[in-house]
Amino acid sequence: MPKGNYQLPSLKDAKIRTREAVKIEHTLFKLPETTRNLGVGRKFYLRTYGCQANERDSETIVGILVAMGFSQTQNEEDADFILLNTCAVRKNAEDKVLGELGMLKKLKTSNPDLIFGLCGCMAQEEEIVQLLLKKYPQVDLIFGTHNIHRLPELLYQTMMSKERTVEVYSKEGDVIENLPVKRFGKHKAWVNIMYGCDKFCTYCIVPYTRGKERSRLMNDILIEIQELKDQGYKEVTLLGQNVNAYGKDLGIESGFATLLDEVAKIGIPRVRFTTSHPWDFTDQMIDVIAKHDNVMPAIHLPVQSGNSDMLKIMGRRYTSEEYRSLYDRIITKIPNCTFSTDIIVGFPNETEEQFQDTLDMVDYCKYDLAYTFIYSPREGTPAANMIDNVPADVKSERLQRLNEKVGQYSNMNNQKYVGKEVKVLVDGLSKKNDQVYSGYSEENKLINFTGENIHEGDIVRVKITDVKSWSLNGEAIEE
Ligand code: 5AD
Ligand code: SF4
Repeated sequence: MPKGNYQLPSLKDAKIRTREAVKIEHTLFKLPETTRNLGVGRKFYLRTYGCQANERDSETIVGILVAMGFSQTQNEEDADFILLNTCAVRKNAEDKVLGELGMLKKLKTSNPDLIFGLCGCMAQEEEIVQLLLKKYPQVDLIFGTHNIHRLPELLYQTMMSKERTVEVYSKEGDVIENLPVKRFGKHKAWVNIMYGCDKFCTYCIVPYTRGKERSRLMNDILIEIQELKDQGYKEVTLLGQNVNAYGKDLGIESGFATLLDEVAKIGIPRVRFTTSHPWDFTDQMIDVIAKHDNVMPAIHLPVQSGNSDMLKIMGRRYTSEEYRSLYDRIITKIPNCTFSTDIIVGFPNETEEQFQDTLDMVDYCKYDLAYTFIYSPREGTPAANMIDNVPADVKSERLQRLNEKVGQYSNMNNQKYVGKEVKVLVDGLSKKNDQVYSGYSEENKLINFTGENIHEGDIVRVKITDVKSWSLNGEAIEE
């Protein structure tokens, strides 16, 4: 290994779960003296892959870099520091990053002082870090999901030593409050309520890359949301790999239902949350969502498969019947609720009949939106050791059939809005057409609409006129 500072990830350690209490760090974030002006006159370029947890981490990373004096550039060629915040959930997400590393390599020739960094979930993978060390000498700095707060020192060390720095902790993780944040949205904000995952679904790498389930204190979350409201934010999305598990590690009974109720009472106009696991979605949670007008009627409820045997092998902890019963209970109490989901096809040994059960589930729940994936083996997970006898062409064909069905229901559901009125939080002018505004309805439908005197961050009433595949068109109603 070339000279450098190495603390490498360990898959074995990442699997460990103890009963030790989580450390919650409240000390105010202070930049070490040496790093305070490190970024002055320098620019960074940050690219984020993957889920909202990564997006939110990137807001912290930008907050830290700006505090160090860096300015952000959208052009890789101008950057003194390039950082990729990566995703490991499927192989194609990783391949994208590895391809990007190859493309960006040439920038080092024109700028030998350029520092190249990689963080996020790929950095937590033992196998990937070994690959980077062997085959990607252009990467100077690697850090993981547990030590973002260490970025100033790690960057300083890399710049000064001109040697490679790898610092990845494979531990259960802490909760670190008070890190700087540069929010990407002016009206919509992500708020972490918990980190990590203890579900260990057999296909999923997340419990290894993000550590154990650990909740922020309720008071810290409520203060953050009150501040966001005071700053004029209109919407918060409560984030966690499984928000339903909120508070279990703190010994709070019905933690998520209680938290959601408290958040709603703050009175911010819109509250969303993601992601919910069907296994511990309680009736009390349904009641809280139903009770508050400002908790949005749009639920992401990953099903993964419609077949109970598959669900068992996936380690999902619910049967097809239990999922349907939960769906029924939600729709009975919240009739205008929309549903989105995640589905995996081609899990090891999935038969045509089992796949049919997934199609039947789509018929039953008539999802508004489904994120559909071909199963991707992840090194270190139990499913990666299962014999996968489903041929690649069968997987692709199943995905296509599934997507066709999902598309039909999405369109059918959208048609129901024609002639109706929805409330839209305005994001701004549409990216595709600067004559129209765009934003999301309470049900989480993308709405493009025309109107006079509209401003970003307004909540406006829009009458729906027609339907496109993935959006609705409408006209603002004059007040
Ligand atoms: N292969 C395919 N899809 C996966 N997901 C998670 N792990 C895998 C995997 N190994 C999907 C699940 C999850 C979503 C975030 O990604 O559907 O809900
Ligand atoms: Fe992965 Fe399952 Fe945890 Fe979701 S609940 S992050 S799919 S292990």
